[in-house]
This record gives sequence, structure tokens and C-alpha cells, in this order.
Amino acid sequence: MSQLPCVDMTLLDGILERYPREEPSLIQVLQDVQRTYNYLPCEVLERVASALGVPLAKVFSVSTFYKAFSLTPQGRVVIKVCTGTACHIRGAGQLIDEVQRRLRIGPGETTEDLGFTLQTVNCVGACAMAPVVIVGEKYVGAAKASDLAKHLGATEGGDHAN
Ligand code: FES
Repeated sequence: MSQLPCVDMTLLDGILERYPREEPSLIQVLQDVQRTYNYLPCEVLERVASALGVPLAKVFSVSTFYKAFSLTPQGRVVIKVCTGTACHIRGAGQLIDEVQRRLRIGPGETTEDLGFTLQTVNCVGACAMAPVVIVGEKYVGAAKASDLAKHLGATEGGDHAN
């Protein structure tokens, strides 16, 4: 079983300084925490709850409600495979299989070195380019399984791409 890296709580201090210490700040604080840590670490959520005077149960309920938040560590590069109808028909399944084969992770999972996370998403509004994969911020249209190595290799975790 892999060990999670320690969480640098000083980063949270910088976030909390930017907002009033009250409940309405909760979502903005969580957004900044997600951006900074790439997920919402448990110990950070506990500190957020006490700093803003919000019950921990409410913090967890907000954290699990929004898809943009994750309670588990995410890879530095998130690979999103669109599984909407157009992409499904044009081979999204093979793209998922190829990512799984190369990185040995399934949808919703992250590589042990936190290099990559694989996600499936609903239609991203680019059906004319189907099938679509988003690697980090980059949209790859008409994606082919055989091309994925090059797109994964162009990222910081590229050593997985062979
Ligand atoms: S179904 Fe994939 S972009 Fe629309």
C-alpha cells in the first residue's frame, strides 16, 4: 500500500488569510484548497471547519457534493475520456482500455506516483471532434489509441507512456 505524502499545512494558512473567517467563505476556500493541494486532504478540511466555524459534517457534505472537489489525491495530470454518445460510438472504450493498459489504472484511479488520474466524463461539447480525450488542459480530438502514448508522453509524467 502506498503512503500519502505529508500535507503542508502552511499552504492552508495562506489560503485562509484571503477570506473572512465565516461560513460563506467555505466554497471559495475549498476551491483554493483543491487547486493548491490537488485534492481536499482530511486534516486540511478539519482545520477549515474550525477556522470558519463550520461543522465538519457540513464541510464534508459540500466537499462530496461538487464534482470539482476530490477527497483523494489526484494525479498531476488528469486524463479525461469523454464517454458521451458520440465519443462512445467512435471508440471511447478503446481509449479507456489503452490508458488502463499503459498506466495500469482504471477510471477514477490515480497512479501510485501521483503522475496521472484517469476519469471518464460526460459529453464535453466537442462531439464533432469525437472521440475526445482531455490530457491536462489539452483537448485531443479524433483521438486514437495508438496516438495516446505521444499525448501522455508530452506531459510531466511521460515516463509512463511506453
Ligand atoms: S460525446 Fe464526447 S464530446 Fe460530445
